[in-house]
Amino acid sequence: MDSIVVKGNGPLNGQIPIAGAKNACLTLMPATILSEEPLTLTNAPRLSDIKTMTQLLESLGAEVSSLQDGKVIAMSSHNLDNHIADYDIVRKMRASNLVLGPMLARLGHAVVSLPGGCAIGARPMDLHTYGLEKLGAQIELKDGYLHAKAPGGLKGAEMELAFASVGATENILMASTLAKGTTVIKNAAREPEIVDLADCLRAMGAQIEGDGTPTIVVQGVDRLGGATHAVVTDRIELGTYMLAPAIAGGEVELLGGRIDLLASFCEKLDAAGISVEETEKGLKVARRNGRVKAVDVVTEPFPGFPTDLQAQMMALMCTAEGTAVLEEKIFENRFMHAPELGRMGANIEVSGGTATVHGVERLKGAPVMATDLRASVSLILAGLAAEGETVVNRVYHLDRGYERLVEKLSNVGAIVERVPGV
Ligand code: EPU
Repeated sequence: MDSIVVKGNGPLNGQIPIAGAKNACLTLMPATILSEEPLTLTNAPRLSDIKTMTQLLESLGAEVSSLQDGKVIAMSSHNLDNHIADYDIVRKMRASNLVLGPMLARLGHAVVSLPGGCAIGARPMDLHTYGLEKLGAQIELKDGYLHAKAPGGLKGAEMELAFASVGATENILMASTLAKGTTVIKNAAREPEIVDLADCLRAMGAQIEGDGTPTIVVQGVDRLGGATHAVVTDRIELGTYMLAPAIAGGEVELLGGRIDLLASFCEKLDAAGISVEETEKGLKVARRNGRVKAVDVVTEPFPGFPTDLQAQMMALMCTAEGTAVLEEKIFENRFMHAPELGRMGANIEVSGGTATVHGVERLKGAPVMATDLRASVSLILAGLAAEGETVVNRVYHLDRGYERLVEKLSNVGAIVERVPGV
């Protein structure tokens, strides 16, 4: 397995282009199932998770072409001939479960493997099935697969999610576009990826209002057409690279960056003493004066501080002045980077969902193990300012969510290298 070697090399300067959002693309791709006409996505990120979703859609009979070096994905679900999302694909990537709602709406039946837990938590699907059942689906669990059917078609309904789950909101939203009548989803997730999905569905002919607020209202239509849609900027890739100059010093412009995608994160950077400025092309982030200050963070659904930036923020707090308390409220096991950062000299105590980080002057490079996507990148960020060499193993996690990471960081002056495994 490949590893990534990072050497602490002082301040970073230059520009980093931000790609389209992985988590938006992974819900926009299954939306193709809803229509017989082509759906084309532009500004797509080049990631292994996108390849996995491609494989899944092809296994269902969709045609998926990757154009312009992967930046454009052209899809057609004219001839869907399989309704089973196989465990072998679903277990590799949880977002595979996002084919459930669209298949049910278009075909009237779907069999989708339950993904099982993952490194960061149990991640059940009860909210997805709750919403789809409200729309009239009958769902049964057999041999590890959800068997769903809607013999008379889906019917609009009013429902309230017990938690504003991103995936459940996406599955229910997609299914409800073709349901008969009106659907009201209360306590819906408000993430920018939901708004991006709604924008794309509207371009396909869906009638949706309220996306980006806690109540989404959908008037079902008989059929959806084709569309071309540009994937929204990846706010997590953006936040990750904003932390690079924050940790290593210097000034970096993030091309395509937008504050509205990360307002609560930007507030925390400001409190830590990092400057964030809007420019014509994006955002400029700089750390000019001395050590950053410790700030406390609580992860919450959007518009709160994103769980997907908690690990990276912890990397910043490791060398902050003072003590920072990071509370993880979305996933029950998302501190696996803490002991790895500890191997680099960080002083972190974890108790349940709370990590207390006592800032140290400087981290020291060490061999460390990536445990999940965001944990892996937090170790690379930490390595940017550590003394000596950090070797991050199991980098396949990174390929799931960060395109051309070595190139992007090298271009701003970091010493980062990918070393092929033996
Ligand atoms: N949950 C339930 N029941 C459900 C669904 C969710 O209990 O039916 C719980 C989960 O176990 C978790 C919490 O609700 O504790 C949040 O889960 P949510 O459904 O909101 O997350 P998701 O849709 O599974 C997406 C992103 C994650 C991101 C979360 C939270 C995609 C493909 N994944 O996951 O991204 O952390 O929202 O913002 O959109 C990542 O990119 O590294 C990543 C993990």
